Amino acid sequence: QTTRRFEFNVEWKNVTRLCHTKPLLTVNGEYPGPTIAVHEGDDVEIKVTNSIAQNTTLHWHGIRQLRTGWADGPAYITQCPIGGGKTYTYKFTVINQRGTLWWHSHHSWQRASVYGAFIIHPRMPYPFSVPIQDEFPIIFGEWWNGDIDSVESEMMKYGGGPDISNAYTINGLPGPFYNCSNKDTLINTVEHGKTYMLRIINAALNDELFFAVANHTLTVVEIDAAYTKPFKTKAIMIAPGQTTNVLLTATQVPDSSGMFLMAAWTYLTSVFPFNNSTTAGFLQYKNPMSTDHMSKHPKKVTIFDPVMYNFPQMDDTKYYTKFDDNLRSLSSPRYPCNVPKTIHKRIVTVISLNLQDCPANKTCKGYANKRFYASMNNQSFVRPTVSILESHYKKLKKSQYSTDFPEKPRRPFDYTGVNPIAKNMNTEFGTKIIQVPYGTNLEFVLQGTSFLNVENHPIHFHGHNFFIVGKGFGNFNVSTDPAKYNLVDPPERNTVAVPSGGWAAIRFKADNPGVWFIHCHLEEHTSWGLASGFIVQNGHGPSQSLLPPPKDLPSC
Ligand code: C2O
Repeated sequence: QTTRRFEFNVEWKNVTRLCHTKPLLTVNGEYPGPTIAVHEGDDVEIKVTNSIAQNTTLHWHGIRQLRTGWADGPAYITQCPIGGGKTYTYKFTVINQRGTLWWHSHHSWQRASVYGAFIIHPRMPYPFSVPIQDEFPIIFGEWWNGDIDSVESEMMKYGGGPDISNAYTINGLPGPFYNCSNKDTLINTVEHGKTYMLRIINAALNDELFFAVANHTLTVVEIDAAYTKPFKTKAIMIAPGQTTNVLLTATQVPDSSGMFLMAAWTYLTSVFPFNNSTTAGFLQYKNPMSTDHMSKHPKKVTIFDPVMYNFPQMDDTKYYTKFDDNLRSLSSPRYPCNVPKTIHKRIVTVISLNLQDCPANKTCKGYANKRFYASMNNQSFVRPTVSILESHYKKLKKSQYSTDFPEKPRRPFDYTGVNPIAKNMNTEFGTKIIQVPYGTNLEFVLQGTSFLNVENHPIHFHGHNFFIVGKGFGNFNVSTDPAKYNLVDPPERNTVAVPSGGWAAIRFKADNPGVWFIHCHLEEHTSWGLASGFIVQNGHGPSQSLLPPPKDLPSC
């Protein structure tokens, strides 16, 4: 058994992008943060030192944390934050997982700059036979010229967006479409005829993105660290929180620049005046015959029009839906698809934005002079000030949560209408979560609404992977839709993009004792309350029980 040790120092570092220099929160001074690379089965220890005045926590997104919920990271869910000047060592084992995941801060909006790749090399050879020449991380993010704390507090104070970032980035670089950014452009070098693996991560705070490479086809082989049946596509769609591995074969004959554009641009269901920016880099062909007259600088590009490249446009829901339908578990003898065929419990939850009247003498920037909140079953999640996991483990009487989350919408609903003001816009505030016995086969139906729903909600579950057994537009119908579920090879993920104005049904076995956060990975929506959680109780014996807390676990 190998133990891989990492030291992460959370610290400020002056970083310049778009000709703005500002202190940026980083790990070890790197932006994006360092890549963690381990092997399937390894023990991992990451010693985190907090060298800033504010609190912090780190989360290993998609790592199951079997029985080690103490190392999961969401602030006040599984741990109290690491205070300024303090350290905490996250310890866990990577059990039966392989592929591309990522890590990020799970405290306030720190993940705007505190994130990086988490790569698990498989124990077995890849299930596809093409030899891989090399691999690249492709991590999308967002850059703000201003300070992220003030973006966050404005958004909470006025209850509205859009909280537009100044640029999207690939590997921290905005690329050639932004002013003052030509030199901050990612260039990946490839050789003609060779195949590369792109480990694509969407770490952006608030946007789903299309990604494509001019003149090249991508073969999707893995999503959220689970192998898929390989399929070819021009573009992929990736929501915040999700990861996608694709293979790319350098088949083209390049022009004298040797460059092909790699671009990521926003997906929205209709073209809005905001969020229309695009980040890009280049694939550069190595040409052994004429290396020296190849240009060292990317082609100057000023306007991005997806049509010019034969890419889908930003509101191409048809393209996206088709892409999504192609995602299927590999479902092979070595990597079987363990989707529960039967369930013990179905939880139907509406996920929605909500509106609240603006307090007197206040300014609100939501919709129709009101402010936004967000909820699950009209319940806006309020983060406690002590760790739920600790309260649960110690069976504290004075805990700040209750286990009475409403398991179906509390009022009849119809969210298919086009009227932007849907029914049942009000929300209640509290820390209500779900509790189930060890081994429960759970189904969640996540029902989106039609209210101002211009984007999908990427709903992320901690501590478990799930299978997306069904998806559709309009209202979920409990008497007809379950009959159409895919229980053969549904995609396995940790984050599902619930279609705008539609629903997604997911299933999994709750076999990881602990407390697990559920939330929208659009950071703005989480802040407004689109979150909940679930407790999985201990089963029989130590192998089905949560481990005791580590000695250095921070206290509140
Ligand atoms: Cu990527 Cu709760 O996190």
